[in-house]
Amino acid sequence: MPDHGSKLIVALDFSSSSEALSLASRLDPSTARLKVGKQLFTVAGPDVVRDLQERGFDVFLDLKFHDIPNTVAHAVRAAADLGVWMTNVHASGGSRMMTAAREALVDCSHRPLLLGVTVLTSMARADLDELNWGADPIDRVCELARLAESSGLDGVVCSAAEAQVLSQRHQPGFLMVTPGIRQAGDASDDQRRVVTPSDAVAAGATHLVVGRSITASDDPAATVANILASLV
Ligand code: C5P
Repeated sequence: MPDHGSKLIVALDFSSSSEALSLASRLDPSTARLKVGKQLFTVAGPDVVRDLQERGFDVFLDLKFHDIPNTVAHAVRAAADLGVWMTNVHASGGSRMMTAAREALVDCSHRPLLLGVTVLTSMARADLDELNWGADPIDRVCELARLAESSGLDGVVCSAAEAQVLSQRHQPGFLMVTPGIRQAGDASDDQRRVVTPSDAVAAGATHLVVGRSITASDDPAATVANILASLV
């Protein structure tokens, strides 16, 4: 089904629902979707997700579930019942876990998009060696993305650099949601590898996750407009 919503997902990494709702009040649901992650969800819970949805926003519930198949299936189903647009699980939970998550959504009246998290972009080769995973991150990302696709997931969370490789290996329509986005001149903060919005889309990213470049800007709506303008 064609996606008529925005490619841009604003990460609401706040520690209170009032801060999150205040930022949302400065944005337009037709130009930006919103991501609720572990920090905000842990303090504000499903109520903040409902509040954002009542204001017309699509919500990506980024809780990166990783547990036994039964638990993950029920968690993903709870996210669907909450009405979220997108949610995710760790692909390293394996194909049985991912398949259970997908199957839990089969009879939903509103089925969220389900993504697999491949290798966290904060992890480098040394981190993988420490875990005895014995591969470069990109090889591991490719394996996990293949497993996510064969388990019936809608796409993956990956870096823009990885999106370029994955876009050559996956069916068109396989989603690639990329964080680590900065406009030219922005501070990179704690992100190690940053990519501009237009370079990320050129690499194959279907959706961009942007946090502080928007949430810390003086005029978040204008920053959203600038980013979207840079994509056309
Ligand atoms: O502020 P910034 O644009 O760096 O925020 C990026 C967002 O994307 C944060 O919510 C972060 O948790 C998330 N993220 C990430 N790298 C990943 C997965 C998610 O930066 N690999």
